[in-house]
Amino acid sequence: MNCTIRKWKLEDAETLSLLLNNENIMNNLRDGLPYPYTKKDAEEYIQAMLNADPDKTYAFAILCENQVAGSIGVFRQENIHNRTAEMGYYIGEPYWGKGLGTCAVSQICHTIFTKTNIIRIYAEPFAYNTASCRILEKNGFQFEGTLRQNAVKNGQILDMKMYSLIKMDWQAHKREKE
Ligand SMILES: CC(C)(COP(=O)(O)OP(=O)(O)OC[C@H]1O[C@@H](n2cnc3c(N)ncnc32)[C@H](O)[C@@H]1OP(=O)(O)O)[C@@H](O)C(=O)NCCC(=O)NCCS
Repeated sequence: MNCTIRKWKLEDAETLSLLLNNENIMNNLRDGLPYPYTKKDAEEYIQAMLNADPDKTYAFAILCENQVAGSIGVFRQENIHNRTAEMGYYIGEPYWGKGLGTCAVSQICHTIFTKTNIIRIYAEPFAYNTASCRILEKNGFQFEGTLRQNAVKNGQILDMKMYSLIKMDWQAHKREKE
């Protein structure tokens, strides 16, 4: 299924709160999000994204048939890593399995590599998160290794996987697909 990504709008808050207020999503993300996740929480998040430094934070709503269906962001790192950025994303559960995650990652990589000087995008899914790993692999990300016992989530010690896409490989991957 096709998707588009666009900047957040404050009026997305209600939909965002409905999508994210879901343990099946939260269990796969870092800690720190309130649960239940209210419309006010969503408004605060959107406002923070709109106020953020546009050279460091690239946060987008994922749209499917004009409806907000998920969230994706790329966040520039600091110091010697300032041309590296971490990517995070989720899709609302009603939209799972339709190719939206794969589509959104493709769209944001295109935006980042054509409009910024970032040369490396990385993501660190939990090792058990097969769907997320597949999304990355399908977009040409390279598996760089397992980060053993790298997180404690809901009281469980978990491995994570490091995937990255460097601009050079993205260009080659894009050429292959054309
Ligand atoms: C992970 C997530 C983003 C996947 O999004 P999605 O839009 O359903 O993914 P897609 O439809 O693009 O599917 C991607 C691939 O994963 C596979 N997949 C989807 N769900 C799967 C599952 N539960 N188990 C194994 N593979 C799965 C698909 O079959 C597809 O692979 P294929 O093309 O080889 O068949 C979504 O489930 C989600 O938001 N989960 C909670 C938050 C999260 O995990 N975020 C990522 C943190 S790193």
